[in-house]
Amino acid sequence: MIMVDCPAKTFIVEGLSMNLEPRSAIAHPNIAFIKYWGNIDSSLRLPANGSISMTLAALETKTTVEFSENLLSDHVVINGAEAKGQSYSRVTQHLDRIRTLSGLNTMAKVTSQSNFPLSTGLASSASGFAALTLAASKAADLELTLKDLSILARKGSGSACRSIFGGFVEWYASKNDADSYAEQIMDQSYWNLIDVIAIVQEDQKEVSSTSGHAAAESSPLQNGRVQDAVRRLNDCRQAILDRNFNKLALIVESDSNMMHSVMLTSNPPILYWEAATITIMRNIVNWRGEGLEVCYTIDAGPNVHCICTAESALEIEKRLRKLSGVQRILKSRVGGIARVI
Ligand code: PMV
Repeated sequence: MIMVDCPAKTFIVEGLSMNLEPRSAIAHPNIAFIKYWGNIDSSLRLPANGSISMTLAALETKTTVEFSENLLSDHVVINGAEAKGQSYSRVTQHLDRIRTLSGLNTMAKVTSQSNFPLSTGLASSASGFAALTLAASKAADLELTLKDLSILARKGSGSACRSIFGGFVEWYASKNDADSYAEQIMDQSYWNLIDVIAIVQEDQKEVSSTSGHAAAESSPLQNGRVQDAVRRLNDCRQAILDRNFNKLALIVESDSNMMHSVMLTSNPPILYWEAATITIMRNIVNWRGEGLEVCYTIDAGPNVHCICTAESALEIEKRLRKLSGVQRILKSRVGGIARVI
């Protein structure tokens, strides 16, 4: 066995066993303006349609990964609790992808902390898998491009491929693994939009997005939604490029309604909304009628993302606080790229 000593690391070259330094990364979740719902290949997470999102600055997941010879199995701690079941196996499967790419055969310790509630439709898996991809690839000494990172993150959780980037981001649909990745449309300084998130329930959702994606095909509406996706993507991309809020509002709300129509008509049907969700949706449309620049969009959960211009954000927050069922408000500007710390 050959031992190589570097200042920071000890390598045992034969058999590719190494003790490497822990590495940490921060990634932000994103809110989809044009939603990803349903896969053409669920093991590779190749989406049925392309999607566009905005990265959220105020919410973040910080993840530290350390590969170590001393571990007999992967050890995963998420928000202070040891991960078990599905959440544990999704992380270890992702670590396996990194081990395959790097030739490492050691187990890892993963510690992940988010500053917002998990599994409530706030895209915690997007920031979680983006941060894990970046931290684990660095910890394994891999040098990956942003495109490689996006493809890799996608396999952990589809929407995570968009969280590698900051600003306004598009994820391309493709039948091929190598062509389904995200890219930035415009950076976070291009348009000062705010996401005012009305939390109506903090409990973890009953139907995970993974099972929701699998059920999407059973809805007779999914085919129409997917067929129309290129039009919605074009409209949304153009509205961002033109900073045209009214155009953006109409396409964002319509896309969210389409995804929830598919959910409601899947077998079994999925209803993520609470009564307060609908109250907020109605009010947002009325407030826009009064001239406030705001629209709603809802992910796989009951909480409502109210996308607004910076000029309207304070008034929207004030009005949301008065609505019954709104427990808490989170606010975020457009966020930046996932980064190693
Ligand atoms: O990445 P997943 O498997 O958590 O799916 C995300 C699905 C939605 O949040 C509902 C839509 C999207 O594009 O982010």
